[in-house]
Amino acid sequence: MTLRDKQIVVGVGGGIAAFKAVELVRELGRRGAKVRVAMTASACRFVGPITFTALTGEPALTDLWDPRYPGEVHVELARWAHAIVIAPATANLMARAAQGFADDVVLATLACANSPVLMAPAMHERMWRAAATRRNLERLTSDGVHFAGPVQGALADGSVALGRMQEPAAIADVLAREVFAVRDLGGVTILVSAGPTLEDLDPVRFISNRSSGRMGYAVAAAARDRGATVILVTGPTSIPVPAGVETIQVRSALEMQGAIASALPRVDAIVMTAAVADYRPAESKPRKVKKQGETMTLELVKNPDILAELGRTRQGKRPVLVGFAMETHDVVGYGRKKLVDKRVDLVVANEASVGFGRDDTQATLVGREGDEALPPMTKTELANRILDRIKAKL
Ligand code: C5P
Repeated sequence: MTLRDKQIVVGVGGGIAAFKAVELVRELGRRGAKVRVAMTASACRFVGPITFTALTGEPALTDLWDPRYPGEVHVELARWAHAIVIAPATANLMARAAQGFADDVVLATLACANSPVLMAPAMHERMWRAAATRRNLERLTSDGVHFAGPVQGALADGSVALGRMQEPAAIADVLAREVFAVRDLGGVTILVSAGPTLEDLDPVRFISNRSSGRMGYAVAAAARDRGATVILVTGPTSIPVPAGVETIQVRSALEMQGAIASALPRVDAIVMTAAVADYRPAESKPRKVKKQGETMTLELVKNPDILAELGRTRQGKRPVLVGFAMETHDVVGYGRKKLVDKRVDLVVANEASVGFGRDDTQATLVGREGDEALPPMTKTELANRILDRIKAKL
């Protein structure tokens, strides 16, 4: 779920992590959200309201008695908010919120909120573990408040312990994934292949390509967030696999084919983002090949086209099949040819120059019903567009 056009109130509590609330506000803005900030009196001792005012273009609210909003600032803010994020949520703020106190602008806004609330606690580990904080955490959780963190890390006193505020990008992720999630793919199982394949020449050398795995991992994470059961079949990558998905690590195209074949009876849709090597060495030598003459010729044999095989052998319309086409020229033309040749439902066509290793991309969705040229967007947004198409075909 994207945060674009979401209206978020960030309530800043009085702790040293308040400086990270500045980065959180920027991060939410980068993701397209509209942000307004409310601060407790002690938050203002750590960060100046003017910082938030400058970043959001809206006055940061610090006072329940602000003459610009006679008596109603908290009502106004709560009504405007699609979600309220409290960061940092101090032990004191959690305690007061759990009791329903409403004696400053942050607490009063929480008290009249009817949109979801996400808290990012930050405090010393001893405070986090204190019986009273445990009680307040339980109380707030049962009131429906979401939590992001705290995490293990360096605290203000130099110790390394549990109590550090979750990183701003991770808080924004939780907001998008948990608080705003549209779980419209519940009950659907989606297999995503991702990354490159590595085709071994000998124990130390292989043939591969520049696929980073980012697009596939974005599809897997987005499908998970929308409630699907996800099976991720991935070649070796250097990025972390998304949590909460069944991951099968493979190396070569043949291994990938085997992993997909064994999962096949369970799946409703397959998204082949993997850059499967078209050829592999005719022979993978058990010992390292020694250098010899000035030139060397490698004999390669064709790998199975996993996607084309799936298209050829599927019965009826299941599973829904989505392929990728990355080309250096005539991207849409080749995309359409692949749609027909491989007998798939959708081809995501993009140019090699905008694909590899980046977080954003630009693609054309080539389907039987026509082409849809999409504007530049993040891989997560593209993933959601693809999932929308899959949903329509299920
Ligand atoms: O034909 P081309 O390799 O350009 O097709 C790309 C699409 O086909 C991708 O979805 C890729 O995952 C899939 N593919 C495959 N097996 C191969 C080669 C490509 O499944 N051997």
